[in-house]
Amino acid sequence: MGNAATLTVPDPAAMQELGRTLATVLRPGDLVLLSGELGAGKTTLTRGLGEGLGVRGAVTSPTFVIARVHPSLVGGPALVHVDAYRLGGGLDQMEDLDLDVSLPDSVIVVEWGEGKVEGLSESRLEVRIERALGGEEGLSLEQDLDPDVPDVRTVTLDGIGPRWADVDLGALAAARA
Ligand SMILES: Nc1ncnc2c1ncn2[C@@H]1O[C@H](COP(=O)(O)OP(=O)(O)O)[C@@H](O)[C@H]1O
Ligand SMILES: [Mg+2]
Repeated sequence: MGNAATLTVPDPAAMQELGRTLATVLRPGDLVLLSGELGAGKTTLTRGLGEGLGVRGAVTSPTFVIARVHPSLVGGPALVHVDAYRLGGGLDQMEDLDLDVSLPDSVIVVEWGEGKVEGLSESRLEVRIERALGGEEGLSLEQDLDPDVPDVRTVTLDGIGPRWADVDLGALAAARA
């Protein structure tokens, strides 16, 4: 049985709020894979996850490091924020990173993770972020540059494996819709 939900996220604040909402169901050892093109909103979502988890340090784009560890300020799991785009070798390299943190005790969030880090965990939450274009032709350049035209994202949540079997992603998405 698949466990999936799709929702519309109208703006960056809502994307961050979705992260805070998702954080409420995250537990130590969870793996979250974020996919979507550059500028889709993966880091914005991760910022909300960090807020929801109550971790230390600003979540920023991990472009110049492969992974950043944000320890918990509230006795919960640390957030390990990985940019797998730079993780050419996949899982082996992830274990080689020598992060000063126990991965099973952390929440691991990977940007661009598809096809590289699935082996870290038998279960994972896949979050796919797509830019919802206005109509068949997409936004016109004028609309694209107009700050009053909303830049909506479509987010698909897909819980894979036993960890996610009993999590009601549909209810989570509905709470946000
Ligand atoms: N609906 C939306 N959801 C998320 N980000 C949005 C949205 N609309 C506009 N944005 C903007 O898109 C950019 C997303 O950047 P970022 O989160 O760094 O993307 P990524 O990490 O996927 O490359 C930000 O500048 C953000 O303000
Ligand atoms: Mg990013």
